[in-house]
Formats: sequence, C-alpha cells, structure tokens
Amino acid sequence: MDLLNHGQACRWHAYRTASGLEQAAVQAILQAASQAISQRAAFHIVLAGGTTPRRIYELLREADTDWAAWHVYFGDERCLPQEHAERNSRMAAHALLDQVAIPENQIHPIPAEQGAAIAASSYAQTLADISLFDLVLLGLGEDGHTASLFPGHDPDMTPAAPAAIAVLNAPKPPPQRVSLSAHRLSATRQLMFLVTGAAKQQAVNDWRNGLNIPAAAITPAAGVDVYVEAGLL
Ligand code: 6PG
Repeated sequence: MDLLNHGQACRWHAYRTASGLEQAAVQAILQAASQAISQRAAFHIVLAGGTTPRRIYELLREADTDWAAWHVYFGDERCLPQEHAERNSRMAAHALLDQVAIPENQIHPIPAEQGAAIAASSYAQTLADISLFDLVLLGLGEDGHTASLFPGHDPDMTPAAPAAIAVLNAPKPPPQRVSLSAHRLSATRQLMFLVTGAAKQQAVNDWRNGLNIPAAAITPAAGVDVYVEAGLL
C-alpha cells in the first residue's frame, strides 16, 4: 500500500484487461452493497461520471441485489440540460438506473441544469442527511482530476468544505460543473477509483510519485482502492 502526501492510503488492484477490471469492480460493488444492506438495510453509493464506469454499470443490471435498498448519488455533474448526451446522470440512467428497480425517490441526480451555484447549494441540502456514504466510485482524468476537482483548483479537503461546490472554469468541457468536495467524497466507508486506458499513464505516474494531483486529495479513513489496468503500473 502506498502512503502519499495528503496521507492518502492507496491500495492498487491491477488487472491485465479492462474487462477483468470491470468484472472485479462489479463484484466489489455488490459485496459492498450486500454488507451495507445486511448491516443497515440501505446502500448509499456515489456514482462516477465519464466513460470508464459505463460497462460496469451495464454489467450491474444483471446483479442479484436488493435494488429497493439502493440510494444513488453522483460525484459530479456537468451543467447541461437533464437529457443532454454528455450528462453523467444520463449515462448512468441508460446504462443502469432505468433498467433496475431502484425507487425513483432514491436516485438523486445533481440538478446541474439549474446552474452551478444553485445546484451545488441544493445538492448540499440533499446530502445533509447522509453523514457517510457506503461506497464512492471515482474516475481519474488525464490531468489527475477526479469528479470535477481539477488541478489548480482548491479540492476543498477541510471539514468546513461545503458538500458540493460550483466549478466555473473546468478545463474539461463543459466549463461549468458541480462536484462533491474532496472532504465530502472522503466521507465514505469504501472508495474505488476506476482507471483504464493508456491516456491515464501520466496521471498514474504522478499519483504514484506522490504528486498532489486532485485524486490524491481524496482521503477516506479506510483508504482508497484503485482498480487499474496492469499496463499502467
Ligand atoms: C466527468 C467525470 C470525470 C471523469 C474523468 C475520467 O464528469 O468528466 O466525473 O471526473 O471521471 O474525467 O473520464 P473517463 O472515464 O471518460 O476517462
């Protein structure tokens, strides 16, 4: 296990293929769900955006789990209309959420279509009742960003950090986004990063060399599990 600058404890789980990684991630997610539901009758999961998780969400459709106990949140969202093809909530809906029996009032998209500041404030209220997530899924950007926490921006690691923050000049389009803060993303029993593709090589190198990329600012008490293609290590 690596300990990095922010004291982030990282466990690296390497898989020869993206398919192998996806299968392992699905099993880990279902294990987390089973444990949460048996202990607390509910599973509070934060979904990652981008493209990496899509196949994992599609594989989850066939899972044998108590969907009625799932409560779904998002780590970030792009400020686009609700049905825009680039919305993270739309990707998750098409890949998984529209196909399984999670009660609609237990799926909590970030209302980013309302604009970054209003949506961030509103989503912080949504999260007020959930002190600890059971599982947070995150991707990794080529520049080391995660959720919509980008280099050169304060990831908001302090306890005073708002749960959700407005991002107004993201280098990855669209420029306006809403992101959970690093502090809020870290308030979770388990956290999995999902990292595939040669484009992530530099970000993985920087991370493992102890550079303070935004992904390294995510510091849950139990550490983080990085599901990564072996070729990137
Ligand atoms: C977003 C995502 C972002 C994503 C990474 C990786 O809204 O863009 O939340 O953080 O996870 O950029 O994206 P890919 O999975 O598409 O490589």
